[in-house]
Amino acid sequence: MKKVFVKSYGCQMNVYDAERMADMLATEGYSETKAMEEADLVILNTCHIREKAAEKVYSELGRVRELKKEREASGQETKVVVAGCVAQAEGKEILRRAPAVDVVVGPQNYHNLPALLNKSRSERVVDTEFPIEDKFDHLPAPSKARTRSRGVSAFLTIQEGCDKFCTFCVVPYTRGAEVSRPVAKILDEALRLADAGVRELTLIGQNVNAYHGEGPDGSVWSLGRLLHRLAEVPGIARLRYTTSHPRDMDDELIAAHRDLPAVMPYLHLPVQSGSDRILDVMNRKHTGDEYRRLIERIRKAQPRLALSSDFIVGFPGETDAEFEETMRLVADVGFASSFSFKYSPRPGTPAAEIDAQVPEPVKAERLARLQNLLEIQRQAFNHGTVGQTLDVLLEKPGRHPGQMAGKSPYLQAVQIETDRHAVGEIVTVRITQAGSNSLFGEWVGPGSQVAA
Ligand code: 5AD
Ligand code: SF4
Repeated sequence: MKKVFVKSYGCQMNVYDAERMADMLATEGYSETKAMEEADLVILNTCHIREKAAEKVYSELGRVRELKKEREASGQETKVVVAGCVAQAEGKEILRRAPAVDVVVGPQNYHNLPALLNKSRSERVVDTEFPIEDKFDHLPAPSKARTRSRGVSAFLTIQEGCDKFCTFCVVPYTRGAEVSRPVAKILDEALRLADAGVRELTLIGQNVNAYHGEGPDGSVWSLGRLLHRLAEVPGIARLRYTTSHPRDMDDELIAAHRDLPAVMPYLHLPVQSGSDRILDVMNRKHTGDEYRRLIERIRKAQPRLALSSDFIVGFPGETDAEFEETMRLVADVGFASSFSFKYSPRPGTPAAEIDAQVPEPVKAERLARLQNLLEIQRQAFNHGTVGQTLDVLLEKPGRHPGQMAGKSPYLQAVQIETDRHAVGEIVTVRITQAGSNSLFGEWVGPGSQVAA
């Protein structure tokens, strides 16, 4: 049997795509390996969001080239595929810079992989066209055993692409316009996942709360309506969605946080900056206060809500005072967890053309200050759960015998002293201690979250 090694960079969309590629290649006779050295087929599923992410791919391709040579010396062939957003953005350039690469395939084209691999016997190939047909219609569903082996929490792509055109972001160029999958197809996939033991679905999309898919009745469904339908799927006890844009948090979605116990009280809602001027130049289409008011409304609907966000420091032209506005917004809102980045100019995006780029040391200092504050908030949030009883979805055996590991509603890793329970069960746990990256707790009873 031939072996495939897939390495994914970047966001959850890539994790999901990597799984779909592996599923498809399984039907072509490939088994998955975690060791690149023994792979007949190496796939790098790449990310283009920041410069560092893209450069990582080229350095990895250097290593792959060495490997390919070594295997060749012992008479083994290795095919090398670059997939994902770097593939989409750079296309042919990858073939020029990385001689080891046989196939370059964009995120909308990987259903063509078997044909492309075939073609690559005689020539190096690039497929980055935006196709008219839906790749999901051409991808085989994985076997129940494969799904089971991936655990009780699964990603489900419901939307791809983005029409927001934030001025720093490559996504609208690499992933294209917003497209929502029809409700019936999402439902089929959710039923299949639930049937294989999945208890938690994370609905994913570059701009997931802009979801506007065709419902079974032909009308357009919003994310709020879709959540209601998915909450009825037998076995599914938890629903999450990511990543969202503040402008697309509509009333129906906010109400879903109030009305559906399955919708977890945890929301990743990137704000990027606290300065109104920077938000405007970023083309985010909202102010700092509008974000604060939105959070108040969501918290009213779901008082237990915990938040997470993305931040960019050192956006072109950002002054010290404007950076302080970001610090103030963080202090005002309070985040349970966050991602923060130095601005990275991406070729082809409007912000990269702005003259007033912020010097690297200034970016570094701002990032350190922001990350310090965010870390204090994260630790405070985690410590705040000590003494509380939380529902925990058990995901796997724990670090030590007699322990199990799971996730709280707030995506915190929790270690529990128990061996009486099965993976996939939701149990109520009293949190006894907060470490720097996980919580510790004791079982107090069955979970309050009952599956539909
Ligand atoms: N520079 C730095 N960070 C960026 N992000 C997107 N584009 C850039 C860029 N050019 C960050 C944003 C986004 C997250 C996925 O990546 O914060 O929400
Ligand atoms: Fe990029 Fe998100 Fe803005 Fe879309 S909404 S352009 S994906 S940062």
